[in-house]
Amino acid sequence: MGKLAITGGAPRRQKPFPAWPIYDRTDARAIQEVLASRNWGGYPFPNERADRFARQFAEFQGAKYGLAVSNGTVAIEIALQTAGIEPGDEVIVPAYTWEGTVGPILRLNAIPVFVDIDPGSYCLDARLIEAAITSRTRALLPVHLGMCFADLDAIRRLARRHQLVVIEDCAHAHGGRWRGQGAGSWGDLGCFSFQSSKLMTAGEGGAVITRNLEYFERAQSYANCGRASVTDRYRRRLIGFNYRLTEFQAALLEGQLRRLPEQAERRRANMDHFEHRLQGAPGLAFLKHDPRVTTRAGYQFVCKYSHFDGVPRSAFLGALEMEGVPCDGLFYEPVYRSALFPVDPKEFPVLSWRRSKPLDLRKASHCPVSERAAYEEAVWLPHHIFLGTRRDAGDAADAVLKVIENIAELRGLKHPAIRQKAMSRAERPRVEKRQW
Ligand SMILES: Cc1ncc(COP(=O)(O)O)c(C=O)c1O
Repeated sequence: MGKLAITGGAPRRQKPFPAWPIYDRTDARAIQEVLASRNWGGYPFPNERADRFARQFAEFQGAKYGLAVSNGTVAIEIALQTAGIEPGDEVIVPAYTWEGTVGPILRLNAIPVFVDIDPGSYCLDARLIEAAITSRTRALLPVHLGMCFADLDAIRRLARRHQLVVIEDCAHAHGGRWRGQGAGSWGDLGCFSFQSSKLMTAGEGGAVITRNLEYFERAQSYANCGRASVTDRYRRRLIGFNYRLTEFQAALLEGQLRRLPEQAERRRANMDHFEHRLQGAPGLAFLKHDPRVTTRAGYQFVCKYSHFDGVPRSAFLGALEMEGVPCDGLFYEPVYRSALFPVDPKEFPVLSWRRSKPLDLRKASHCPVSERAAYEEAVWLPHHIFLGTRRDAGDAADAVLKVIENIAELRGLKHPAIRQKAMSRAERPRVEKRQW
């Protein structure tokens, strides 16, 4: 029997961290009001609560217009369509992200071009973008990942120079600010997700924000089956779909937005404490604090593990989970290598246009920093760990230090918790418990 919980010792953290999502009586009242109103759906569009919420949210993030939609994946599709991305256009994306950043590009019969990430932030490396730009490039789609921002200054400079649209994927960045201004309001369009794990959630949901009325009108039409937008100044007609949010979801999101600033402050203080406690710990390294990120969003605490003492990341994480700290390593893969990206050229004709052989997106890119982050190094800790007290965050840090101090117990160890940490997101549903 060892000291670590995975080898038979007592777990360092015996009680769960705060549960997510958080709700209170005001949410129950709001849901009850929607129920009694019999006005449940997203139509007429935008419906009352969804519109009120979208306006408040856009203002909170620093944009003029906001639209609430069914989820973050369609928010990205709407933004691409709104920005006029056409079949055959190329869109530059980071390789290390959720598949939902990339799928909508293919959905519109455009081509995702994968670019590697910056090792200091794990976000799209702006220094590598220019080499990936071709005469067909139309948009840059940076993702503000985990708790960092892509370099928006450099990205906007490049976009201006090459006349590209910038669409920010802010699925992790609610409330985050770059040089004092909200995520999603720097680019031409910003996209958010309100899926269960996110910093604001209604179970599912999404939003698109912009400062451009023409884009806002097109986004409304596209998300509402092609109907005219409320203002209809530009009178653009297009085929649209039903991507509306329900009034129940909007009711929950109003409460989520009200609570976000206080939660963000608590999370930030606890994440800082956690990082401070772990400074100098062998085997660990931290992402850079960019002073231009004036408010960190903190969707997850992301750091790096370095195969300490010959022990792979899956063993470190399996042991940490057994100490009572939820954690992940293979949270994302480079999309081009992910089993959740089984791209078949028969389904996406653009991959064969003007080519003797279809473009094989699974082989077209090699992004070593993304590969290292995905398969060796990245450690992801969910935000709810940091929604409790300073002592809770200290417990999480103690658990990490305990695993590191006793790392020798993990050498060569086989255990179901370790096997699970080596599993990809595609394989996991067979073993995964509900987490959120
Ligand atoms: C980076 C990123 N982009 C896009 C999405 C898609 O959002 P949704 O799950 O709401 O469709 C997610 C969330 O899952 C995400 O994490």
